[in-house]
Amino acid sequence: MSFVVAIDGPAAAGKGTISRAVAERFGLAHLDTGLLYRAVGAKVLAGGDPVDVARALDPVDLENDDLRTPAVAQAASEVAVIPQVRRALVDFQRAFACRAGGAVLDGRDIGTVICPDADAKLFITASPECRAARRHKELMDRGMDHTFENVLADVRARDARDSDRATAPLIPASDAVQIDTSDLTIDAAVAQAVAVVAAARQQKG
Ligand code: CDP
Repeated sequence: MSFVVAIDGPAAAGKGTISRAVAERFGLAHLDTGLLYRAVGAKVLAGGDPVDVARALDPVDLENDDLRTPAVAQAASEVAVIPQVRRALVDFQRAFACRAGGAVLDGRDIGTVICPDADAKLFITASPECRAARRHKELMDRGMDHTFENVLADVRARDARDSDRATAPLIPASDAVQIDTSDLTIDAAVAQAVAVVAAARQQKG
């Protein structure tokens, strides 16, 4: 059975953790679509043209270990405002969503643009301070020394760019279930997401 779960939300809201847990729980493939924009951003930092790079993107580019740095995240959010870049990445995402057995895709515009007919849609949020605290801890755990204030400024800058862009801005789909993870443990957030997806699966039969 083809079954698509769309999970959107701003940086560090918990989309990645929730998406991986939902994919595992229901035996679905998972695509972190942020990696596509990060891979384009990384190649642009190395001197490439954003549109050319997006059109030539190869799945192996997503396996680059350096995609998780703040510099690449900023570059990703800058290339993500370019309509031709977004267009170049649509087919890869839709092909992934259509795979037999079903898929979870997480990003910013999955429920609104990439998979508007998804079987279940979630919009994961948290306050900017909570998200910055989580991202700061992640970076420190990986030995990357950044101040909390810098991480918060990065989160706010990316929020503004993601929300204000003309093409595929970050907004919840009208039929998405919203989960605010600010005061939730990971287990509680995952349990809420799993309940939404389980109900959608049951409805599909
Ligand atoms: O992990 P985090 O939420 O910090 O970022 P990400 O999901 O890896 O995405 C990096 C950047 O790519 C975001 O700031 C967005 O600007 C952009 N992006 C997008 O525009 N559309 C998507 N479907 C996924 C990411």
